[in-house]
Amino acid sequence: MTDISPEPAPPRRPPALYGRLAAIGVVLGALGASFAYAGGWLSPGRLTPGRIVDALGERGGDPTGHRRNHAKGICFTGSFEASGEGARYSTAPMLAAGRYPVVGRLAIATGDPAAPDASGGRVRSMALRIIAPDGQEWRTGMNNLPVFPVATLEAFYELTLAGRVDKATGRPLDPQATPRFVSAHPEMQPFLAWARSAPWTPSYAEEDYHGLNAFYFVDAAGTRRAVRWSVLGTVPPEPRTPAELQAMGPDFLSRDLEARLRQGMLRWRMVARFAAPGDPVEDSTRAWPEDREQVTLGTLVVEQAEEEASGPCRDVNYDPLVLPAGIEPSRDPILLARSPAYAASYLRRQAELGQVPALAHGPGAGR
Ligand code: HEM
Repeated sequence: MTDISPEPAPPRRPPALYGRLAAIGVVLGALGASFAYAGGWLSPGRLTPGRIVDALGERGGDPTGHRRNHAKGICFTGSFEASGEGARYSTAPMLAAGRYPVVGRLAIATGDPAAPDASGGRVRSMALRIIAPDGQEWRTGMNNLPVFPVATLEAFYELTLAGRVDKATGRPLDPQATPRFVSAHPEMQPFLAWARSAPWTPSYAEEDYHGLNAFYFVDAAGTRRAVRWSVLGTVPPEPRTPAELQAMGPDFLSRDLEARLRQGMLRWRMVARFAAPGDPVEDSTRAWPEDREQVTLGTLVVEQAEEEASGPCRDVNYDPLVLPAGIEPSRDPILLARSPAYAASYLRRQAELGQVPALAHGPGAGR
């Protein structure tokens, strides 16, 4: 028997409209998930920004009043001299040819604000706040590694837990936890290959820094292109052994930066690399091929360094989702997890400033 259901057929929508509705659904789903995480509603683990920040703060030393990751660093000021090449791909005002002020920070990826520089491991970072004349900002935090070690927030949390130390002894709580994690996470291999082979440098100036997460540049016609950006050093690396770095004292990175800046400004070339169809946009453990289209966005000029305790970067939250019109986030889960965690760390460290005499009389303007 033929089904002669009296239900009227739904009105036909053009396929493009279905596509758009699906896209909106996906974006709302991703936003919903990130709000659920920010609000601590994810169950059963309830992996909240607060728990992430707790774990980051348990890797040795006393983080009170400091960033819970990349806790030891130095502020700098300078400018971004845009070449104008980026303006073909994005309407971001600081990509139009011109010079824009920058407040930045160089740091080591430690949880301990008093860690000796040689103990900070392989990871060094640069954070930038580039300000356009109309007040729009582009904030970015970049690392010297070419790929991130893990692809999800859950894995990042587990890896952080594996690095926890006993507060009393400073020794790892479970020395086997990191090796166990590594053997269960093959996606870490590209990061480990870099960590095994990259030169140990004595200077922030001798490193390249990579944004790692993908974003979209959006041009005046509304065309979106997936992009990853980096700043490439102009000072040739002079590698040392880890033992030589240790012998250079606990704060050799900031002393080196100050000494170099007394001689003149430091420069990095800022580049953007575009994805080709099929390149992984939502997985920062996977690099894009070197031959992808690349443009030089401009030159970062670092002019002056200032101690963090009294410097202009102290009260900045380098939240990677503070973006100008013309740059949009991808749905990389690592990227979406960063913003709420940075906010939790920021709120915590700002509330603690009064407990740390060295920080109590700093710049004082929360931003
Ligand atoms: C592509 C991956 C990542 C990159 C490139 C990155 C980079 C950075 C950089 C450069 C900083 C230092 C910013 C500064 O100098 O103020 C930083 C801080 C921090 N990171 Fe990440 N990070 C990544 C992933 C994550 C993830 C997945 C989390 C946790 C969900 C996280 C949590 C933090 C926290 C809490 C801070 C301190 C924020 C503050 O108090 O201002 N990061 N990160």
